[in-house]
Formats: sequence, structure tokens, C-alpha cells
Amino acid sequence: MCGIIGYVGKENAVPIILEGLHKLEYRGYDSAGIAVLNEDGFMVVKQKGRLSALEARIKDHPIRGYMGIGHTRWATHGEPSDINSHPHLGSQKRIAIVHNGIIENYRELKEYLEQKGVAFVSETDSEVIAQLAEHYYTGSILDTVIKVVSVLEGSYALGIMSIDHPGTLIAVKKDNPLIIGVGEEENFIASDVPALLAHTNKVYYLNDKEIAVLTRDKVQFYNIDREPLQKSPETITWSLDSAEKGGYEHFMLKEIMEQPRVLRDTIQSALGSGDNRRIIDSFDVAAFNKIVITACGSAYNAGMVAKYVFERLCRLPVEVELASEFRYKDPIIDSRSLVILISQSGETADTIAAMREARRRGACTLSIVNVVGSTVARETDYTLYTLAGPEIAVATTKAFSAQLALLYILAVRFAGKLGRISRQQEEQLLAEIAVLPEKAAEVLENIEAIQKYASTCVGYKSIFFIGRNIDYAIALEGSLKLKEISYIHSEAYAGGELKHGTIALIEEGTLVVAISCCEPLYDKIYSNVEQVISRGAKVLFLGNCIKAAPSEKLAIIPLPKTNPLFSPSLSVLMLQLFSYYVAANKGLDIDKPRNLAKSVTVE
Ligand code: F6R
Repeated sequence: MCGIIGYVGKENAVPIILEGLHKLEYRGYDSAGIAVLNEDGFMVVKQKGRLSALEARIKDHPIRGYMGIGHTRWATHGEPSDINSHPHLGSQKRIAIVHNGIIENYRELKEYLEQKGVAFVSETDSEVIAQLAEHYYTGSILDTVIKVVSVLEGSYALGIMSIDHPGTLIAVKKDNPLIIGVGEEENFIASDVPALLAHTNKVYYLNDKEIAVLTRDKVQFYNIDREPLQKSPETITWSLDSAEKGGYEHFMLKEIMEQPRVLRDTIQSALGSGDNRRIIDSFDVAAFNKIVITACGSAYNAGMVAKYVFERLCRLPVEVELASEFRYKDPIIDSRSLVILISQSGETADTIAAMREARRRGACTLSIVNVVGSTVARETDYTLYTLAGPEIAVATTKAFSAQLALLYILAVRFAGKLGRISRQQEEQLLAEIAVLPEKAAEVLENIEAIQKYASTCVGYKSIFFIGRNIDYAIALEGSLKLKEISYIHSEAYAGGELKHGTIALIEEGTLVVAISCCEPLYDKIYSNVEQVISRGAKVLFLGNCIKAAPSEKLAIIPLPKTNPLFSPSLSVLMLQLFSYYVAANKGLDIDKPRNLAKSVTVE
């Protein structure tokens, strides 16, 4: 996810673009850049780091122009650096672009252009767009853009300027958002409404493969066949503050709701033609006799879920270790061990230390990371990226879901490579993973019941989570989410363990959240539910194989059917929503819970 903005009009574009980029910083913040076009040609400033670093450079070396494009980056191809920052220019410096999205066929396009003598300067997929535009340039910028997008595969929202067309800004999109703002003698493009609200509330929404041609005085729309389109503007009624969170009260809720898209992108990168796919295809899992997963907090919980999936499918022993413990336990690993590190930030000190310990002992390291170019990503032998985009809320939601998706795919592909499952079984399992985004969307379309139930739960001092098998693993994440944002004490237990001690804590009015997505174990978990109800507890029962009827003490929220191995991806959505709405009803600072930081870079 990145943020783009463009301006053409009567004012100096630079302050307008910088101000817009501030509103888009939630979409990416590892580097930023701006290009303006004036009588001297393109003036470009690009800077790794936060937007403030770009602003400082522009303050020292001011630029100006009546048309410009800006970008705030969240790296996906090529580490955050000045060179990899946008805007990108073609080698002849005649076309400049900003891009949000992923060009899946960029390698073949790059090879094609390199054979024609084009010299690339960055490691990004985006540069290929600027180079292609110069290569195909016909004298008509509109025709050129049509030609370029006809060969691009993947997703894009683009702002494009040509030195031969000062005063004409082009916008086009596919599978990533782009809006056109209309002002008085000025027009805008942006990834999202907040970037424009200070200037206009009149916007056009671009549909896929529609092209907008903006000048200072008008905006014209075309389809990909160059036929003019008539579109009607919409009036935005949002306040600036609410717009930044896309209308949601908190980033956490916004990020929960983004999960179908995040799952789709991440799954596509591993099953389609993305970089993740290439790494998984070439990975020689037969070289290992065991897998060790190590991580912290929620990422550790993703590892706990993965253990069930890997062991069931690959028949390889899997150990899951807390990264903070790993290096102190004299771990039994060697060159036959595959150590998987999971981290959203890639900068968690304990995970970095575990990674270095694993490497020191000769193990092969594979990381699952969200932040491109982070320490864990750089130092492991192999890196798979979750395509969750920047996560702003401290409590992880969408990055966790993306981690699960990659872990499932790894487990299925490894099982196939090891010959533990047939080709047909492998395809069937991957097909079930591929439909998870739709099922996630279905869960998120039906949130009223959990919202209502959670509003009755603010008074609890302690809440228990139970499940069996993989439902137990995801119960751990439900419990962590609840305690970190609602400050309610909570524990997760394997249902069968209750009778070995915990059941002593159950009394009149205790709340137990039970999860049931493993049909063969339904009777077992239901018997645990009955045991706690008979001791006075109330139960919130979430699952896709529940046969019991609701009662005064038993609330039931159904989930869509899926293979039990992948069901945590659906149950976790309900668990995240439960925690979110409990905390929201307590009026807490959900995005920044007390005592916590997003990235824990100290031991
Ligand atoms: C919980 C949460 C934390 C992180 C943990 C690891 O919601 O976000 O438990 O999962 O601090 O962080 P990363 O994944 O950045 O290594």
C-alpha cells in the first residue's frame, strides 16, 4: 500500500502535495518523493524515511511548479531507499510517474526493455511503467498510457506527467483506489479522500481501467478504447479527521475490515506469479528434518496455528518457541533444521536475536515479514512478504491474518514437495485457501451480533477462551487481543485442560468464549461448554459446526464452513471484533493501548 497525490492548477503544487501526503502517510511511511514540472523540466526530490525528512530537504532546496505528483511509499519491491522512492522517471527524463500497487509481470517487461538498451536505476517494479511509457511514446500521452496499461499485469493506481504536455496530468487505476478532486481552476488526484478534503469535497471515483485527463480547467474521462466517458461527481460529507480513518472510528477497525483485501493480495503473491511464489517454488524442504517456528506475541500465536497445519500435512515435527526464550535454551538445531521467523515489523529485538542464534548454529532461516527491508527480512536466508500494508493500530490484525495465509500455503506446498499429499489434494487445499478472502468478507459483513454481544461484556474482570486442537491455537490470539486493548484479564486454555485446574476459577457470571471449527471434536468442546455452564458461566460459542441451540447462558455466533486447518482465518476475525467492541464500549484508546509499542526493539 502506498499513497499518491497529484495537482494541476493555479497554485504552487509543492505545499499542496506535501500537505496531501501527510494525510496519506497511514498508507506508507518508509520513503516519500515529489516531482513538479515547470519551464526547466522535471524537478524531483526523493527521500528515504518519514515525510518530515522530505520536507526538510525541500526546505533547503525549494522547488516549485503548477503541476506535480507525490508519493508516500510502503516498499514491496526493493528496500526503502532514495533511489527506490517515487516518482520514477524514464531514462530520457521525459515521463514521470507515481504508482500504488504491484506490477506482477515487471521482470519480463524489464528484460524486454533492457534488451532494447533501456538502463534501469531502481530495484522497483514501478520504474518499468515510466520506462515503458517513454518506450511506447507516440506524441499522444493518452494513447501512450493506453498502450502501457494494456501490457501491465497486476494492480496499479498511477499519476503520470509528460514533459511534452505541461499542464496535463493523467490518472488511471486497476484494483487500487484513485479519486479525482475538482476545484476552482485546479484539479487533483489522490489515493484517498483525506488528501483532498482541505481543497474540495467534489470527487469522481475512477473505475478500473478508466483514464482521467486533468488540466487546470477541466477533467475528461476515457475508457481503455479511448472512448470519452460521462461521469458524475460525488460530494463528500466527511470531516477531515474521520476521513483519515476511512470513516472508521479507529485504525484497528479499519485494519480489521481491510482483511479480505490483504488476504487476497498475500494469497495471490504466493499462488500467482509474485515473488513469494518464486521463493516457495524453489524451496527444497526435503533438506530438513524438523521445523522450528519462533516469534513474539501474536506472531508467536500464528506459529502455534501453523504447527497444527504443518504437522498434519507435512508429518514433520514442528516446535514453536517464544523468541524471547529461544536463545537462552540452548536450542537443538543444526543445518538440518528450518527455522521460520514471523514478524510484522521485522525489527522485534527478541526475534532478531533468535534469528541470529539460529544462523549461528547453522540452521536455514526463512522469515515471514511485513516490512520490506527490515532487519529480519535482510538477514534471513529466505523472506516471504505479507502484503498487509502499513499497520497503524498497535494491536495486530491484518498482518496476523496475512501471516496465517502464507503459513498455510507453505505447509500445503511443503507437503506436496515431500510427497505427503497427492497433486490433487494439494490443488484442492490451495483452492480452499484461495476462497478465504471471500469467506472473510462474508464474516465481516455480519458484525452486528458480535457488536451487540460485546457491548454487554464491559463489566467482566476476567474472560476465558477455550478451544481444542487448532481452535485452541487461535483461542490464544483471541485472549491476547482482548487483554491488550480492553485491559480485561484473560487466559486461553485447551478445553480438555479445564478439569486439570482451571475449572476451579469458573463461577456464577464468568464469561467463557468457546471456539468450535473442528467438527470431529465438536462433542468434546461442547461437553466443555456444558461443564462451565453448569458451574455458572455464560458462554459465547463461535464456530461453523455448532449443533446446540442458544439459551439464556449460551450465545451462538456462526461462522462460514471451511477446512478446519484454515478456519483460524475466519474465527480470528470474530475474536478481533469481540475485543475491539469490548474496548470501544469501555471508551479506551484502542489504537494505542497503555504500556505498549507497535515495534518492540528492546529486549
Ligand atoms: C499483539 C501484537 C504483538 C506483536 C509482537 C511481535 O497485537 O501486535 O504481540 O505481535 O510484539 O511483533 P512483530 O510481529 O512486529 O515482531
